[in-house]
Amino acid sequence: MTDFLDAYSIQYWLESCPQAYLMDTEYGHPVGEREPELVLEDPLFREQAIRTTTQLIVGERCALAASSGLVGCAPDAASQCFLATQTLDEARHVEVFTQRLLDLGVKKKEVEDTIRRYANPNLVKFAEVLLEKVDKKDFVAGVVGQNVVLEGMAFSVFEMMRTVNREPNPKFAHTLDGTIADERRHVGFGENRIGSLIRQHPEKKPEIERMQKEMSYYMLATFADSFRSPEMGEEVRHAREEMREARSEASWHGVDLALAEPEEIEAVLADTVLGEFKARLGRIGVEYQTPDRPAA
Ligand SMILES: [Fe+2]
Ligand SMILES: [Fe+2]
Repeated sequence: MTDFLDAYSIQYWLESCPQAYLMDTEYGHPVGEREPELVLEDPLFREQAIRTTTQLIVGERCALAASSGLVGCAPDAASQCFLATQTLDEARHVEVFTQRLLDLGVKKKEVEDTIRRYANPNLVKFAEVLLEKVDKKDFVAGVVGQNVVLEGMAFSVFEMMRTVNREPNPKFAHTLDGTIADERRHVGFGENRIGSLIRQHPEKKPEIERMQKEMSYYMLATFADSFRSPEMGEEVRHAREEMREARSEASWHGVDLALAEPEEIEAVLADTVLGEFKARLGRIGVEYQTPDRPAA
């Protein structure tokens, strides 16, 4: 059993990540795995895969900017080491999801244009709220925004995507396995390290609570944009037919994702993430703020 400080060490990171679940992988999946033919050949599936992957890249670029920025204002050596390992994890996530765009047939020189074209404006705003705290070198707010809010969201989104992709797209599901394992470490740090800092700086709570409320709103607006779009409706219908034919089951938090309507998926995702925020914030002594709901 590693103790509190060892759990943040580079040695622990080496043994639990590069020398463990990332062994024998390339870009986060077993060597030789490919995107399925259906995703590569069906224009609708391919475009949705590009759109979804773009949001992952936007989120991971934000996490990379935030974790690297927080290294410079960490108040203790253990946090600094941990955030240095997290910086490399996030850079890896940016790389593996960018590689997925290439695997989906996006040309290298088109990557930035593709990201600009598909990036969800509400997700960009979500990232800006967090990066503003990091720019001000506000360590406590930055860690709550990153390791509780951003990564709490990423954790649930990745888990849901892994459930959906487990059978139809093992390559993508395997890439998600590694990122989920990394995110689990990152959210653990947020909770363990930040609770004591918040006890030392109770005056920071109102500002942190405002940040959480604002980020949560932009997150819900991002989900709404995705799940209420005609493209998503089409994709979900299409995917459902495939899954029914293959008789695959994809149950997540009590909802069968192979049978559910887009609005049911949006609801279970939003409720799961907000429930996680509430529990995690409660454990670090911050009061969860109910965000406004994006208009229907
Ligand atoms: Fe990440
Ligand atoms: Fe992370």
